[in-house]
Amino acid sequence: MLRRLHAEQPESFAFTPENQAWAEGQITKYPEGRQASAIIPILWRAQEQEGWLSKPAIEHVADMLGLSYIRALEVATFYFMFQLQPVGKIAHIQVCGTTSCMICGAEDLVAVCKEKIAPNAHELSADGNFSWEEVECLGSCSNAPMAQIGKDYFEDLTADRMGEIIDELAAGKVPVPGPQNGRYAAEPLKGLTSLTEYDSGKTQYNASAQLAVDIGDTVKRIDGTEVPLLMPWQKGANHNAQPVKAAAPAKPAKAAKPAATEATSKAKPEADVPGEEPAKLDGPRAGGADDLKRIKGVGPKLEKMLNGIGIYHFDQIAAWTPEHVAWADQNLVGFKGRVSRDNWVAQAVALATED
Ligand code: FES
Repeated sequence: MLRRLHAEQPESFAFTPENQAWAEGQITKYPEGRQASAIIPILWRAQEQEGWLSKPAIEHVADMLGLSYIRALEVATFYFMFQLQPVGKIAHIQVCGTTSCMICGAEDLVAVCKEKIAPNAHELSADGNFSWEEVECLGSCSNAPMAQIGKDYFEDLTADRMGEIIDELAAGKVPVPGPQNGRYAAEPLKGLTSLTEYDSGKTQYNASAQLAVDIGDTVKRIDGTEVPLLMPWQKGANHNAQPVKAAAPAKPAKAAKPAATEATSKAKPEADVPGEEPAKLDGPRAGGADDLKRIKGVGPKLEKMLNGIGIYHFDQIAAWTPEHVAWADQNLVGFKGRVSRDNWVAQAVALATED
C-alpha cells in the first residue's frame, strides 16, 4: 500500500501543554545523543491527540528531536499504525483480515464497514464520524473474527453485531467491548475444561472490557491529563503537576558544518554559561526578514518563534555571544539546546556573509 501524506494538511500543529510535557519526559528516557529514539512514542502521542499524523505534526516531532524532516517522515510512513489521513471523529475501525479472522468471517465485517461507513478503507463516512481499514493480525485469533475500535477489541463478531456496534457508537452509546458471543475471554466456546475453579465472576466482564465499561468510553483519545506520569529517573517528577527540564541536547551530527566562529567555538553547554537575552528588533529591516529556515534545524515553527522574540536576520544571530546562545538554548520552548547543538551562530555567519 502506498503511504503518502494526506493531500489536505492543517496549517500547524502544537501539543497540548500536558502532551508537550509528556513528550519532553519521554525524551529523557534515552541516553545522551540518543534522544531521537523517542520518535515513535512522540509521534504516537501526536496521533493520540489529533487522531492522525499531519505533516506539521510530523515536522513538529522532528524539530523536538533535532531530526531532519525526512527522518521523521520515514518513520511515520513506514509503520501502518500511524494514520496519515484524517480518521472518523467518533471512531476508526480496524478490522483484522488475517487468516483466523478471514476464515471466520472478516470479509463480512469489511462488507458492513463498506456499506455503513465508506466504500474504501481510510475514507471518511459522509458525516466524517467514522472510518475503517483492514489490518493484520491483532493477536486475538482465538476470538476471531474481531476488530479494534479505539482502544478496545470487539471479538467473536458477526456482521449483524458489527453493524449494531457502529450504530451504537453513532448514537453516542458505549458498546461493551470484548467477546460479543457471551464468552468471558478466550475460553472454549463450550466453557472451561480446565482451571475450572478460576473465579471468572470477580467482575462482570474480563479486565479489558470491564475497564472500558468502568470509564464509560471505548474510543477515548489520550490528551495527557488522564494518568499521572511518574518518572522515577527524574525523582518521581509528575509531568501533570510540574514541568521538567527538557532532554539534554543530542550530540551534533557528523555532517560538515560551517567553520565555527570565536563565539560558537567558545560556546559551552547551557548549564555552564549564564544566559543573556540577545538584542531584538521591533520588526524586520527594510527589504524584509531573512529566511531563517535556511539555518539547519530551523523549521517554520522555530522561525516564527524567533520572529516572535525579535530575531529576523542572520546577522543578528551571527552576533550572538555564548551568553546569548545559552539564553536561546533555554528559552526556545520545545527546542532546548537546539541553538548550540546545531551551531546556529556559525551557520548564521556564513549565511549573513554570503554573496
Ligand atoms: Fe485476526 Fe489474529 S487473525 S486477530
